[in-house]
Formats: sequence, C-alpha cells, structure tokens
Amino acid sequence: MLGIHTFMPRSAIVKSPVLPYSRDAICGQASPAALTALCPLHPTLSVIKPIAMSSAVNNPAHAWFPNARYGLFLHWGPYAQYARGEQVLIREMLDQRAYAARACAWNPQKFDATAWARAAVAGGCRYAVFTTRHHDGYCLWDTATTDYSSAKQAPQRDFVREYVDAFRAAGLRVGLYYSWNDLRIPALYAGPERDPLGWAAMRDYVHAQVEELLTRYGPIDMFWFDGAWPRHALDWDSPGLVARMRELQPGMMINNRLAEMPGEKIHDPTQLASPDEHGVHEVDDRGDFGTPEHHITASASRLWESCQVTTWRLWSHTTGDRWRAADQWLDMLTDASCKGGNLLLNVGPTADGELPPEWLARNREVGEWLRVHGEAVYGGDLTPCDVFESTLLGGRQVRRGNTLYVLCRFWHGGEAIRLAGLDADITRATLLGSDAALTASHDAYGVTLHGAPATPPTALFPVLKLECAAEPRALATYHPGLWGGDPFRLHAWAAARGHGFNA
Ligand code: GLC
Repeated sequence: MLGIHTFMPRSAIVKSPVLPYSRDAICGQASPAALTALCPLHPTLSVIKPIAMSSAVNNPAHAWFPNARYGLFLHWGPYAQYARGEQVLIREMLDQRAYAARACAWNPQKFDATAWARAAVAGGCRYAVFTTRHHDGYCLWDTATTDYSSAKQAPQRDFVREYVDAFRAAGLRVGLYYSWNDLRIPALYAGPERDPLGWAAMRDYVHAQVEELLTRYGPIDMFWFDGAWPRHALDWDSPGLVARMRELQPGMMINNRLAEMPGEKIHDPTQLASPDEHGVHEVDDRGDFGTPEHHITASASRLWESCQVTTWRLWSHTTGDRWRAADQWLDMLTDASCKGGNLLLNVGPTADGELPPEWLARNREVGEWLRVHGEAVYGGDLTPCDVFESTLLGGRQVRRGNTLYVLCRFWHGGEAIRLAGLDADITRATLLGSDAALTASHDAYGVTLHGAPATPPTALFPVLKLECAAEPRALATYHPGLWGGDPFRLHAWAAARGHGFNA
C-alpha cells in the first residue's frame, strides 16, 4: 500500500509484562502539593517531574550519562534523499503524496550499522541517539502500527534493530530519538477540539509506537523525544506515556521534550526563524535531562546535554550547508564538558547510508585527540573550576580532585606559561601526549610553568595536567575573576612600580 498509513487500535499491540516500578524513584523530590499546584487536573504529572533541585544525578542508573560526556546524534531517514534537511516536507510544503511515494521507494544500499558504530567509537563517542521516526512520520523499524516503514517498504529492513544491535555490540549506550508529531496527519493540526476521533487515533498511534520501541529491542539507555508542537502535554498524555515508559524501562533516561502543559509558554514558534535559535521545548523541570539546542548553557541543578550540528545549521544530510572544523567540534565538546554537561554532536548520513567523508575526517581527528586527552573530558567526577586567569590560553579549566586540567585552545609557543592567580602546590606538571618535563615556579601573583615546547603535541587543544598537593584555588588577587570584585586587591601589584606617571 504505497504511501498509505494504517492506524491500529492500541489494544491490538502486544504488551510486554510489567516490570518493577517504583513511584518514588520516578517522582524524585517533587512534593504532591507542588505538582497539584502546577496541574490540578492531572495527578500523574508527577511522572514528568522527577528532578530534585539539589543533585544532578537522581537515579544511579543514570550515572553513565555524565561519565560518557560525548554522544553521536544520527539524523537519518528518507528525507536524506532531498539533501535539504530533515524538515524538507513542511519547510518546502511539498506535495504529501509525492513525498510519501519517494519515501516508500527509498532503499539505501550502503547502510552498515556496524560501520557507523565503529566510526562512533573511533570518534570517541560513548553513546548515540538515532532517529527512529522524524517529523515526516516514516518509521525506521518494523512497526505493526503502519506500513509506512523501512520494514514494509522498499528496504524491507528493520533499521532500528540493526542500529541497536550494532551499537550495543560496540559497547555504546543506545538512545532512540522519536518525534511526537507526524506532520502528515491532519488531526495533528486540528487537535482534539476540532477532530476528537482523529486526535485520539493519533495519540494512541504515538503511544503504541513508543511502546513497541521499548519492548522489542532490549534495554534502551535513553529516549529522546522531540517535536511535541503544536499540541500540549495533556493532548499527548505525555505524563501517562512517561509512566508507562518507566514501567517498561525503569533505568532508561528520558529527555525533557515532553510538551508544554496547557497555558505554559515554553515553545516560541517565532524563534524558529531566528539565526541564534534556541531549541524547542527546553523545559527545565521535567524529564531526566535538559537539551539545550544550538547553544551550551549549563544547568546547576540537573543533568544536561547540548545538541549541536557539525555543519552550520541543518541536522540531516544536506548539500550546501557548511562543515565546522574539528577544532570547532572540540570547542563545543570541551565547553560542555568543562561546564559539567554532555555534547550530543550530530551527523546526517547520506541517503544511501554513508557517513559523509567530511564528517569522517573530522571525527577521526577528534577521536585521536580524545584517545590522548580523554581523561580531561570524560567523567562525572570532573568538576568545573575557575582558579586562574586563562583567557590568553583560550583556556578551559576543569578539576578532578587535586588535579587541575587546563585545556588550551591557543598555544603561544613560549617556553614559559603564566598561570596568574593560581594558588596551587604543584607536585607534577605534564603536557598530555608529550614527554616535556615542566617545572613550576611560584610568586605572589601566581604560577609560571617552564619547559613548554614551542610546537604543541597536538594540532587541536593541548592539555596541561597539574597534579597538586591540595585542591587548586584562586589567589585573592584573582578571585572572583580578574575584572570583578574589590579593585583595591590589585593595588599592591600596581604600587610595586611606585605611584608616579613617569617610567
Ligand atoms: C529541532 C528540529 C528537529 C531536530 C531537533 C534536534 O527540534 O525541529 O528537526 O531533529 O531539533 O534537536
């Protein structure tokens, strides 16, 4: 049935047995009163309010996530044939039937999930998120809910199974991206008020698909919702669906794109046109982690993961978008990791299933850097810190216990590296990936490292590793940063020359 979708009633979907389910584990610290205040109509809202504001990891099963730091986002589907982004259907308002016909004929010959997984590992990624269904509604798994899928149409393959099996076998955590919306369906736009039956079928269709994804492929580490627009959380019954998902996969992480509550204004559609677009549905208080999109903004109270493109703007394979350089990838990764968050960095494989050569080259560079410098990036035990003036190094600082890492984005090539404002008893100073023996000398205003090579050991970001006898701190002259605080603390430094205007 070319291009025709069929809805199956929810009851027709085989359910797996209910797994142990702890309401306490799900609801975290949110008080019933606070939940009722937020939504008196819907008591199960608590299932999408699991975040305690005091601690980043609320569920020990999620500890892998801050340790992993770096994930691969894979946007792939029949839209890759257009090479103009994953939203080409609506952005160009294409003819629905022509799009569906082309989607059904899509038959990638070069998709090799094992090769993708190998590339992810080579690039230093520790997990991945794969588009099981994007806004165009085409399913990349063998679903019983529709024939609009890779299993029923030309490929006759379950791409989700291939992905999950290959990535898991490669030792990677597996995540599934799923779009709430399916832009083909008129009821999405009519909503429950104008089309109650159509809407109920749409909602049940979504719930049934999510249930399939969570019952057919073994343990899933992460579920990555997107695109709840234009409907709100109660239309989708996202609280009910999340409760069911927690039953099916208790350890799985769920992102925060769980739709607005009625009356909430989280998603501003006008932002979609803005060049510095902030992502949609960045809800701070639900789901297991935040998803800042196209920007890297730390959250002090919860796990978070910035999602970014490796080109300039679009997510799926595109001709004509521009590639970011490897140092820009690393800039994003180290910005996120040094702020205590994750980076989910995207690639859009070609319509035929290949990873673009531009992406492979940069991926290799970053992966090689991570093999040598990964100890300064991976690990939930790395703590953001700011204990010296590192602007001239383009430096990012992060600490593990008493060890301070300085990730230098600029390398001036001088023998001496000045770390003004640092108060640290350095027992060992090394430059990762080099055998340069660095020595440290101290004065009233900081530390100077000697013995730095003119040529750094990496074309990307050299990393100084400073092992200290105690936790490295900022001298009073630096704290709280050079240009803040009481200016008089810098007076003695200036007065050392005298008070006159002559040399
Ligand atoms: C936005 C886009 C969507 C993309 C997603 C990735 O929500 O609408 O196409 O998949 O960002 O975060």
